[in-house]
Amino acid sequence: MKEKFYITTPIYYPSGNWHLGHCYTTVCGDAIARFKRLDGYDVYYLTGTDEHGQKIEKKAQEAGVTPKELVDELVEEIRSLWATLRITNDGFIRTTDERHVAAVQKIFRRLYEQGDIYKGEYKGLYCTPCEAFWTESQAADGKCPDCGRPVQEMREEAYFFRLSKYADRVRELLENTDYLRPESRVNEMVNNFLDAGLTDLCVSRTSFRWGIPVDFDDRHIVYVWLDALTNYITALGYEGEDDAPFRRYWPADVHLMAKEIVRFHSVIWPAILMALDLPLPKKVFGHGWLLFGGDKMSKSKGNVVDPFRLCEYFGVDSVRYYLLGCLPYGQDGQYSTEMLIEKINTDLVNNLGNLVSRSVAMAEKYFGGILPNPETRTPYDDGLEAECLAALPKMRAAIDDMHLPSALAVVTTLGEACNKYIDNTAPWALAKDASRRGELSSVIYHLIEAIRFVGVLARPFLAETPDRIFEQIGAAEEATTFESLSRFGAMKAGAVVKKGASLFPRLDKDKVLEELGLL
Ligand code: MSP
Repeated sequence: MKEKFYITTPIYYPSGNWHLGHCYTTVCGDAIARFKRLDGYDVYYLTGTDEHGQKIEKKAQEAGVTPKELVDELVEEIRSLWATLRITNDGFIRTTDERHVAAVQKIFRRLYEQGDIYKGEYKGLYCTPCEAFWTESQAADGKCPDCGRPVQEMREEAYFFRLSKYADRVRELLENTDYLRPESRVNEMVNNFLDAGLTDLCVSRTSFRWGIPVDFDDRHIVYVWLDALTNYITALGYEGEDDAPFRRYWPADVHLMAKEIVRFHSVIWPAILMALDLPLPKKVFGHGWLLFGGDKMSKSKGNVVDPFRLCEYFGVDSVRYYLLGCLPYGQDGQYSTEMLIEKINTDLVNNLGNLVSRSVAMAEKYFGGILPNPETRTPYDDGLEAECLAALPKMRAAIDDMHLPSALAVVTTLGEACNKYIDNTAPWALAKDASRRGELSSVIYHLIEAIRFVGVLARPFLAETPDRIFEQIGAAEEATTFESLSRFGAMKAGAVVKKGASLFPRLDKDKVLEELGLL
């Protein structure tokens, strides 16, 4: 029986303004999910949409449609975005799904019946765009600390969750386990929230209607974050008719998100799970933000960070490659189209694409496109073999540490090692000397076999390119698995090596910027 691995993205607000930032988390989750599947795990990768709340209610009113009509349309868009990016999610949860609604009602009722939720009165400052309540001290200047827009005073009868009761256990979890990563976020949480003292959390609303009704008091709807967080368990059938997936996959191995929602996942979510007496997720990982400052964003130019357009123009693997490498561990990073073009030219065109086309061309030229047996070893063969064999363990360690750029760099570095091997062995020189045909055969064999390693190692990150590589080098299916990386030599002499279209065409920066309307 395979070991399970459950990984999630945040469920996104159906805003309609899908941009590269949303793609960042989902592509990272996808790379990890693909890696783990290849590495022998039974993976469940979940994403979805967070569809309730006042903002949607208002927007729908303005548009003259029902909230459900509005979200149905927006959800189709995000599904097609994930299809475009070749996301391999196993589940998709909508908070308007009946199974989710029913389970949230059961959860709310149960917490109420056991005394973890009680009725009281809420007074506070509310930020509508963020759907967040703030205390007087948090919004001292009358502005939302998150978005800077004005907050309004609100007073209402409400249900409260006894968050304070779990404060000590949450502190213990954050301070003494590796629940929250990167570690720098732990101090942020402890200083900003736990040290200030956890007060009970208001978990119902009466000021608008677009939400899940509290089934025993339906003037109230469930607070959107309680509704949203529980998606991670309701999606697996918790409190539903078939909870086999829940029993199989819970607890989550990783909840992936950006830093601004870490507090909900590292303070409120564990407390809710403690109240439900459920196991806690193994890890919450809060990455940084992708910033768009580099690109002067105007309305007319704004479309260039439209992920649909970028995928169409540059190809899905170029976009995935850029995203996966663009944020240093735990920190923010910049997006600019210039940087995207440079990255494509350096890593994908010059390094990877060039390696494949040169090597395949040499196999054709010197051996008629039939992979030779490696006859006479060259002094560089040991080194290349060792690099190939060390790559997967290195990548595995990086993925386990959530160091995606380092994991991706394993592919690029191996590509560089292969290019170096070509420089060192100078096959064109060997080809001129008939007595060195044995060495030439070893060089071509080593290159094609090492390219196979590159292709297999790229499989978690790139959706289309690996298969195109395998086709050109004539790798059999069984030579494309992670298991096949345990020894150097899975390529069989006699395989047909055949040049195909170049993997990544070189980009002319000015021309691209002009075509995208950026010059
Ligand atoms: N609905 C909530 C999450 C509920 S989870 C139980 C929400 N939705 S959101 O649509 O605003 O998505 C926020 C998430 O989108 C971030 O946490 C991050 O994963 C991703 N990102 C959105 N913009 C981003 C960047 N510019 N950079 C990196 N990630 C970004 O919050």
